[in-house]
Amino acid sequence: MFDYKQPLKEIEIIKTLEQLEDFFQKYLGKQGTLTLAFKEMAALSPEEKKEAGKVLSEAKAILTESYDIKVQELSIGQINEALQKDLVDSSLEKSSYTIGHRSLLAEVRREAEDVCKSMGFIIEYGTDAVTKFENFESVNIPLTHPATEMQDTIYLKETDPRGEPLILRTQTSAMQNFMIKKYGVPLKAVVPGKVYRYENMDATHDTMFYQLEGIVVDKGITIAHAKHMIEKLLSAILKKDVETRMRPAYFPFVEPGFEIDARYEITDPKTGEKTMSKWMEVLWAGMIHPKVLETAGVDPKEYSGFAFGMWLSRLAAVRYGIKDIRYFTNGDLRFAKSF
Ligand code: DAH
Repeated sequence: MFDYKQPLKEIEIIKTLEQLEDFFQKYLGKQGTLTLAFKEMAALSPEEKKEAGKVLSEAKAILTESYDIKVQELSIGQINEALQKDLVDSSLEKSSYTIGHRSLLAEVRREAEDVCKSMGFIIEYGTDAVTKFENFESVNIPLTHPATEMQDTIYLKETDPRGEPLILRTQTSAMQNFMIKKYGVPLKAVVPGKVYRYENMDATHDTMFYQLEGIVVDKGITIAHAKHMIEKLLSAILKKDVETRMRPAYFPFVEPGFEIDARYEITDPKTGEKTMSKWMEVLWAGMIHPKVLETAGVDPKEYSGFAFGMWLSRLAAVRYGIKDIRYFTNGDLRFAKSF
């Protein structure tokens, strides 16, 4: 005969409405054992029916009541739980972590990109790993040239899909050939990105730093265009009137080439006194060498152009008056939080 003690034990430990539904189906549902027990009564004698009817009705009353109570209990529990999750305790103390902000380098890079975009430049990032052809030969630096030594190169074990050994680009100029081939001429494009060199680190040199390469190719481009555009770019990025000076310089991929220095000043925030004032080299530029254009499939008799490379880490140092470019990447939170 049906005994309700076992189901009563079961219902006691039920924790969820899903389990409770299973319980209901097991005993009280259409195929439930209690429901079936009622059906089986048809085969009993009138005497037995009377007896069984009493036991089963009592069991049904007890289990149905326990079931109803449990439904209440669990539903209320669920509602409370949901309310609890939604609760905002305004008396709690502010959480101890703070939301960070972009690093100064990222800030300067993004702003430089915006300035360049507004001046009609295409932005490309290229790749950090490049072939020796891209990094050196395509910009007129033969592999035997001392410049390949000067920018002590970091070599990778990996090769490109054609099996060419890869290096970490030592200069964003490595993307010039790629850009000309990809977009054709006339072209106005910039490549902001990281470059890597095996350097002796000091306040103005790091093994990884950010450059922004610019390249302009069209018919009739002269050094006057270069000078004008570079001055416009620099003052927009530095957001202050900085004094600049141009010096002649040699780079194998430009002719003539020049370097641009910016006045680098540090002021004591307390006294307002200038504690440092010197020239810092922040940009290199020049008229693109005919060989570079030829290597990229452009006729130098028809087209000319200029290229420039900005040293973004140094520009950020000039803009924010920071003494040592290693602060940008050394992860010191005292530095990061002071901006
Ligand atoms: N790629 C050179 C370097 O990293 C910088 C440079 C010089 C870039 C002259 C240029 C340029 O585009 O015209 O040392």
